[in-house]
Amino acid sequence: MEFTIKTGSPAKCKTGILVLGAFADGVLPTLTALVDATSDGRLSHLLKRGDLDEKAGTTLLLSELAGTHAERVLLVSLGKQDEFGDKAYRDALAAAAKALAATPARDAVVALADVALPQRSLAWRLQQAARIVADGAYRFDALKSAKDKKDKKERGIKKLVLMIEGELEAKLDAAVRQGQAMATGMALAKDLGNLPGNICTPTHLADTAAALGKQYRFEVEVLERADMEKLGMGSFLSVAQGSHQPPKFIVMNYKGGKAKAKPIVLVGKGITFDSGGISLKPAAEMDEMKYDMCGAASVLGTFKAIAQMDLPLNVVGLIPTTENMPGGGATKPGDVVTSMSGQTIEVLNTDAEGRLILCDALTYAERFKPDCVIDIATLTGACVVALGKIPSGLLANDDELAAEILKRGTESGDRAWQLPLWDEYQDLLKSNFADMGNIGGRFAGTITAACFLSRFAKAYKWAHLDIAGTAWVSGDKKGATGRPVPLLSEFLIGRAGLADSHSR
Ligand code: BES
Ligand code: MN
Ligand code: ZN
Repeated sequence: MEFTIKTGSPAKCKTGILVLGAFADGVLPTLTALVDATSDGRLSHLLKRGDLDEKAGTTLLLSELAGTHAERVLLVSLGKQDEFGDKAYRDALAAAAKALAATPARDAVVALADVALPQRSLAWRLQQAARIVADGAYRFDALKSAKDKKDKKERGIKKLVLMIEGELEAKLDAAVRQGQAMATGMALAKDLGNLPGNICTPTHLADTAAALGKQYRFEVEVLERADMEKLGMGSFLSVAQGSHQPPKFIVMNYKGGKAKAKPIVLVGKGITFDSGGISLKPAAEMDEMKYDMCGAASVLGTFKAIAQMDLPLNVVGLIPTTENMPGGGATKPGDVVTSMSGQTIEVLNTDAEGRLILCDALTYAERFKPDCVIDIATLTGACVVALGKIPSGLLANDDELAAEILKRGTESGDRAWQLPLWDEYQDLLKSNFADMGNIGGRFAGTITAACFLSRFAKAYKWAHLDIAGTAWVSGDKKGATGRPVPLLSEFLIGRAGLADSHSR
């Protein structure tokens, strides 16, 4: 989708569809008021009559409104004026995005960024608008047959003008480009997540990384089983040994920053299918375990976003990827394995495999002398129980890093919430036969999982995002969400010193 920013009156725009915001109960936003004036007060009349709902994100489609040059006008409720905030703004954008993805119109003018929001700049409002509208156009029909696709009419806009009041500035263009880049990264993450386990194998992830590196000119190296054996990644390889698919360890190196600047390392869990292994999962919804590589997908998506933005930063991406399968060669409960760090692990439950592949990646990360390390993983069902599907779980060995991630989460609208990583929980990982067990018992599963990881992340500042609840949605809208690409991108934009214009 092509985005441009324009100033002026939306009433004069020749377009397929013009999107305007309106408070259900208050003064019209500036650009909406301009259209109201040229259309002889039609909009305020409709509002007075109560045609637009009070709930932010409800819409009203008008055809050939007098006084405009638009074929259609979509009026979007911004809710009640005194309740207007980030959420109402995003709900309005999401509703507009949905309509724009389904319209027969090919181009649109969107005037939703002209409403003041507490603490949020115009640049922020534009970044959000670009991201949400571009993301709203995402579709996954790669696996539908050609006939099925042909039967569907092409829908959705291709060109979009974002209307603002005031002057055009370079930083506004940059904000729109950031929003677009995030949506592109999310689309990659969603595609990889939605692809089934028989297509999105560890090899497919490695090929995707290699292609991305080639396209955007960053280094990609793929370690094979023999390389990992040499490195002593016994914990990672113990998960892979039940699968016929060869495991891969993907190393991506994006060097946008100064040669000597310490890199930020992102580590993504890449279990392309989690059957549970010998500790087999129950059958219900097991198909959703194809999403167990969404941490890896978010790292790939974030790399695409930052490369597209040309961020002046050094970022390393590490992706341990394998299936977790049962079989004659699979790891058995009670087996003891030796991690790359030298620490031994009693595998009490083969379904707690994410931490087993991540721990070796965390040890591998030490060689980059990182500024900080963030791992992203669909790690525990317990996280979904604790926090639901709204925020990602956040645990960290450094409170400043945690606070920074929380802040970027709120700004991007892709939020996280912190859980404690206190030493008291470490006792739960005790094993009678090895340095630790890989499970911590019935309680606090998200925290004990992070405690396990923390034992491999002592050499640097580290944060862990548990995205078990946020990476995909279930039910009839089943699909990957592309999270936490927005959070990670916003974090990196911040680290590059380019987020100052996002809040006042
Ligand atoms: N990939 C799962 C976590 C998961 C489960 C994410 C359901 C989203 C929805 C992970 O590998 C796993 O199986 N974790 C176990 C850990 C337990 C055995 C300690 C879990 O959460 O049940
Ligand atoms: Mn598992
Ligand atoms: Zn898993």
